[in-house]
Amino acid sequence: MSSRPVLLVQTGSAAAAEEWASLLAPLLPGVEVRWWDEPGDVARVRYAMVWKPEPGRLASLPALRLILGTGAGVDGVLADPLRPRHVPLARIVTREAVTKMVEYVLLAVLAHHRAWAVFGCWKAERRFTYLDCPPAGERRVGVMGLGELGLPAARALASVGFDAAGWSRSRRTVEGVECFAGEAEFGPFLARSEILVNLLPLDRSTEGVLCRALFERLPKGAFLVNAARGGHLVEEDLIQALDEGLLAGATLDVFREEPLPADHPFWADRRITITPHVASLARPRARAPVVAQAILAFEEGRPLPFAWDA
Ligand code: OXD
Repeated sequence: MSSRPVLLVQTGSAAAAEEWASLLAPLLPGVEVRWWDEPGDVARVRYAMVWKPEPGRLASLPALRLILGTGAGVDGVLADPLRPRHVPLARIVTREAVTKMVEYVLLAVLAHHRAWAVFGCWKAERRFTYLDCPPAGERRVGVMGLGELGLPAARALASVGFDAAGWSRSRRTVEGVECFAGEAEFGPFLARSEILVNLLPLDRSTEGVLCRALFERLPKGAFLVNAARGGHLVEEDLIQALDEGLLAGATLDVFREEPLPADHPFWADRRITITPHVASLARPRARAPVVAQAILAFEEGRPLPFAWDA
C-alpha cells in the first residue's frame, strides 16, 4: 500500500481527477493525486486543491499542510469559516488564464464599443442601418483592479488604442494607462469610465460594489463588463440601471448563483451578454505545472508563488 502524501483535487468528476493525476504524475512522482469525493485515508492528505470546499472539510484533514485555490480567485476557499488559518493558501495563476482574460476583456469591450449586440438584434429584423461610433482613442475604458489579470487587460486595452484607465487600492504605474488609486480617486475614475471592466478580488470590502450608487457615478449610458465574481454585482440594481438608461448594456461572465438558473431574468434580457464563467478558464494541462511548482516550492521552503497573504 502506498504511503505517498496525497493531493486531494476538488473537481467535478472522478474522471477529471484522473486527468489531474496523469498530468501531475511526471511532475510530482512522490505525490498521489486523489479525488476530493474519494479521499481515502485522510491522515495522508498533505495538500488540497479546491474551488469552493464544503465548510469544515479542510479543517477535517489532520495532516493538511498546503491549500491551493484552483484559480486566480480564492474567495470560495476564504468563504469557509472553519478554514485552518495556519495552513498556507496559494492561488493558481497561469499564463493561459491571463491570456484568456485579456482576450475576453478585449472582446467584450470592443463588442460594446462597436455596438455588436445592436447589430445582432438588427440582423434578426433584416435592418441595414448606419450607426455612429467614435474611434477607440475617444472611448474611455476603466479597469477596476490592477492585479495579475487586471493589469495586463488594461495594458491590452491601451495597446489597441482605447483611452484606458485603471483603479486599484494602492497605486500602480502602467505605461499608457491612467492610474487611479484609493477611495479618494475612485469617483474621478468612475466618472470617466464609459466602459467599466470589473476585475477586483471578491472580499468583504468589494461585495456588492457594482450597485446603483456606483452606476450613478459612471457617465450616463455606460457599459459594464464583470469578469470577476458574481458577488460583486447587485443583480436587481443592474436591471434597474439598464431600464433607467444609467447603463446601456452589460457583459457578465460570473453570477451569484452558478450555473445561472434557467428562470433568471438575465437570460431574457437582450441588453445583457452572458458567458458561463469561462473568461480566464485555463485547462488542467496549463495549471498542472503551476500546481507542481507551488508544492515543490513549499516542500523546499521557498516562497510560495501567488501566496494569499491577506
Ligand atoms: C479564477 C476564475 O478565479 O476562473 O481563476 O474565476
